[in-house]
Amino acid sequence: MKFTDSPVIQLQVRDAVLSIQQDNGSMHVGTSVWPCSLVLAKFVERWAPAPPQPAPTSTSNSNPYADLLDFRSKRRRAVELGAGCGAAGMALYLLGLADIVLTDISPVMPALKHNLKRNKPVLNKALKTSVLYWNKRDQISALNPPFDLVIAADVVYIEESAEQLVGAMGELVSDDGVVLLGYQLRSPEAHKLFWELCEKAFVIEKVPHEDLHPDYAYEEADVYILKKKKKKTSEEDVE
Ligand SMILES: C[S@@+](CC[C@H](N)C(=O)[O-])C[C@H]1O[C@@H](n2cnc3c(N)ncnc32)[C@H](O)[C@@H]1O
Repeated sequence: MKFTDSPVIQLQVRDAVLSIQQDNGSMHVGTSVWPCSLVLAKFVERWAPAPPQPAPTSTSNSNPYADLLDFRSKRRRAVELGAGCGAAGMALYLLGLADIVLTDISPVMPALKHNLKRNKPVLNKALKTSVLYWNKRDQISALNPPFDLVIAADVVYIEESAEQLVGAMGELVSDDGVVLLGYQLRSPEAHKLFWELCEKAFVIEKVPHEDLHPDYAYEEADVYILKKKKKKTSEEDVE
């Protein structure tokens, strides 16, 4: 690890500042912080109801994401896929997502753990981590799904793993849960396959750019909300 020479990213999350150290000398993409994770984190910061939770009012009703980002009563249990240095997961933890496990492949774990430790004074807790390769069913089961929320940022760039990723998302998220995805087109082939498979498994909603955080809204980066398609009942099949 060559953390000492690598750039540090500061991410303000409400009153706290995360400091994330990259290892740009590494050959693994997960040891850098990718912009989609910041876009996703700042989108959630903009719309997640701030504590203490107010009683429903006309103001909270005007927040179209209040229900989606209700980490205190509705979306309590979460997993992050391809967490890398942990920017998005740590930010969402600070925004109220208390029960979150950050996952990635083994070689990225030192960078993830380094940054969780580095930010412990801000987080006040050692966040959970787990090694998860998207094609490893035993690792998926060991996490004890389903989760209310699956988060992932900038994870679609290899065509060969697009199917594994969509499969892991489907296995991890509960029937009424959501996948919150920070997305940027990296590979046309991976993009095509990923969205074809998502179309089959999920109802896809793209967050309008004007709803992203104004300081973290890049033309290339998007946030998507994926919800599992309802399974047809046997009665519907007969009709
Ligand atoms: C471009 S990085 C994004 C990292 C982080 N989410 C961010 O936005 O800063 C993609 C991440 O996906 C992880 N990843 C890629 N293929 C994977 C696989 N098959 N199983 C698990 N993780 C994978 C990589 O290790 C890496 O951390």
